[in-house]
Amino acid sequence: MARPQICLVLFSLYSLFHLPSLTASGAHPAYADQPSCSAVSSDSTPLRREEFDGGRIIDITHFYRPDMPAWESTEGVGQFLWLPKSMTNGSLANNSEMKLGAHTGTHVDAPGHVFQHYFEAGFDVDTLDLAVLNGPALLVDVPRDSNITAKVMKALNIPRGVRRVLFRTLNTDKQLMWKKEFDTSYVGFMRDGAQWLVDNTDIKLVGIDYLSVAAFDDLIPSHLVFLESREIILVEGLKLESVKPGIYSLHCLPLRLRGAEGSPIRCIVID
Ligand SMILES: *[C@@H]1O[C@H](CO)[C@@H](O)[C@H](O)[C@H]1NC(C)=O
Ligand SMILES: *[C@@H]1O[C@H](CO)[C@@H](O)[C@H](O)[C@H]1NC(C)=O
Ligand SMILES: *[C@@H]1O[C@H](CO)[C@@H](O)[C@H](O)[C@H]1NC(C)=O
Repeated sequence: MARPQICLVLFSLYSLFHLPSLTASGAHPAYADQPSCSAVSSDSTPLRREEFDGGRIIDITHFYRPDMPAWESTEGVGQFLWLPKSMTNGSLANNSEMKLGAHTGTHVDAPGHVFQHYFEAGFDVDTLDLAVLNGPALLVDVPRDSNITAKVMKALNIPRGVRRVLFRTLNTDKQLMWKKEFDTSYVGFMRDGAQWLVDNTDIKLVGIDYLSVAAFDDLIPSHLVFLESREIILVEGLKLESVKPGIYSLHCLPLRLRGAEGSPIRCIVID
């Protein structure tokens, strides 16, 4: 008696969360077109995915983990999730708590990050323009032998009108986001590269594949150049390893953390 009811509940939950995969053609092979009750209830292993809908949607966010790199630390992010209320010790439900630096993993910078007057005026992540964070974006490969200087920017030849660019660099080849130890030799923008971008392109969203868009040697100067106008949004720590260069529809949503100059952000690209 109880069994069919459980099946029904599971199926409803399944439908709620997986409706797009059910309706789209060429769904992920792990999903049957019409999930049978047994397929849902017998498979208790969570499906971890970097891509959805047969590769049409790619998650370019790093999942949060204790051994992901943290700024200037050899120890990584460390424990950030606890379970103060647990069903194993009598609670009605599991309730986790987390403590995370606002610039951890895949994250966004707001103007208040490097400008005290912007911070005081309230230019936090809740003021960022969702129209900039969502829209067509170009993924480009940066030559692997240099940081992003004016010369490199010029050579990339990014046409005017392109408003969002994800810069894939040597950081991806070196898998720096998968290494616990912070690496100061990561590739990023030198001041003149940032200035060239501001002066000669229409780019309003700059994405990069390590914890900072600015090279370590030009850390603050490059951030200042990017964030001064409050028109450019910086998305850092992106997972770009399995995305081909080209144009995608980018969707990035930060948390609405009022008062915070940074926030974890979920970013996906849709082909
Ligand atoms: C319940 O268990 C968790 C870990 O499983 C522990 O952190 C927490 O303190 C426990 N809570 C109580 C009320 O015992
Ligand atoms: C949380 O709840 C699930 C489902 O009841 C249970 O299996 C699991 O052991 C709980 N997790 C912890 C860490 O208590
Ligand atoms: C980029 O700059 C960093 C210092 O910020 C340096 O350690 C690194 O070697 C440079 N990378 C390349 C490819 O030139």
